Amino acid sequence: MKDNVVAITGASKGIGAELARQLASKGAKLVLAARGANELEGVADECRKLGAQVVTIKADVTVERDCQAIVSGAVVAFGGLDTLVNNAGASMWARFEDIEDMSILEEIMRVNYMGAVYCTHHALPFLKQSAGRIVGISSLAGKTGVPTRTGYSAAKHAMTGFFDSLRIELGGSGVTVTMIYPGFVATGIRENAAGPDGKPIKVSPVKEGEVMSVEDCARRIVKATERREREVVMTARGKIGLWLKLLAPSLIDRIAKRAIEQGR
Ligand SMILES: NC(=O)c1ccc[n+]([C@@H]2O[C@H](COP(=O)([O-])OP(=O)(O)OC[C@H]3O[C@@H](n4cnc5c(N)ncnc54)[C@H](OP(=O)(O)O)[C@@H]3O)[C@@H](O)[C@H]2O)c1
Repeated sequence: MKDNVVAITGASKGIGAELARQLASKGAKLVLAARGANELEGVADECRKLGAQVVTIKADVTVERDCQAIVSGAVVAFGGLDTLVNNAGASMWARFEDIEDMSILEEIMRVNYMGAVYCTHHALPFLKQSAGRIVGISSLAGKTGVPTRTGYSAAKHAMTGFFDSLRIELGGSGVTVTMIYPGFVATGIRENAAGPDGKPIKVSPVKEGEVMSVEDCARRIVKATERREREVVMTARGKIGLWLKLLAPSLIDRIAKRAIEQGR
C-alpha cells in the first residue's frame, strides 16, 4: 500500500482509526473522514508520527456533498484516489417491537448504506483512473439476520446487494470490490448503539474482552485490501454459520440468537 491514496470514512475511532494507523505504517497517503474533528485530528497525528502524509475531512456521510468533499480532498491533496474504505457505521440494540421512533432505522440506513453509496459514486471516476479498490465494511449481520439488529442488518444487507452488483458492473475496469464481514470486534460501537428510545445504550451488552481485537480485525482488512479479495467472513463461527444457512437455516438463527443473549 506504499504511496497508495486511501480514503477511510469513520476514521475517528474504532476499526477506521486502527486501519488508518496500520496503513500509515505501510506508507499509504491517507484521507481520514468523520464528524468528530478533534478525534480525527488525534488519529491523524498518530499516523503522521508513523510517517504518513494525512489530510482530514470533517464529514457526515449521510450528507452527499460531504462525501463529495472527501473525494475532492484526496484529489486536491494527492492528485487522485486509489482506495476507498466505506467504514463509517452506526448500530442499534433494540427489538423492533420496542422501538418508539422509526427514524432510528432511517438514520442507520443513511449512515451505513447511503453514506457508502454517496462516497462510492463520487470516488468512482478517480478509482477507474487508478484501477483502484473499493472496500465495504459490512458485518455478519449483513449476511444473516440478527435479533435486536433489524435496521442494522437491513442496512448491511443493502450494502451487500449494492456492492455485489457494482462488482459485476465494474468487471474489466480494473476496479475491485472487497466486502468485509466482521463478527463482534472490541470497539465503542455498542455503547453508541441506538436503544429503543433512539438514545445510545451506553453500556455494551457484549463481553468486549472476549471478542476480536480491533488490531486483529484491521490487520485482516488490510491484507484483504492488498490482495483485492472478493470478501472476508471473519470468524470461524461466521464461516460455519453461512454453510449451515444453506443446509439448515434455522440453525444459524439459533446461533445468532445465542450470540446476542450471551454477548459474544
Ligand atoms: N465493532 C463491531 O463489532 C463491528 C462488527 C461488524 C461490523 N462493524 C462495522 O465496522 C465499521 C466500524 O465500526 P466500529 O466498530 O469501528 O465503530 P465505532 O468505533 O463506533 O466507529 C464508527 C465510526 O463511524 C463514524 N461515523 C458514525 N456516523 C457517521 C456519520 N454520519 N458520518 C461520518 N462518520 C460517521 C464515527 O465517527 P464520528 O462519530 O466522529 O462521525 C466513527 O469514526 C462499521 O461500519 C460497523 O458497522 C463493526
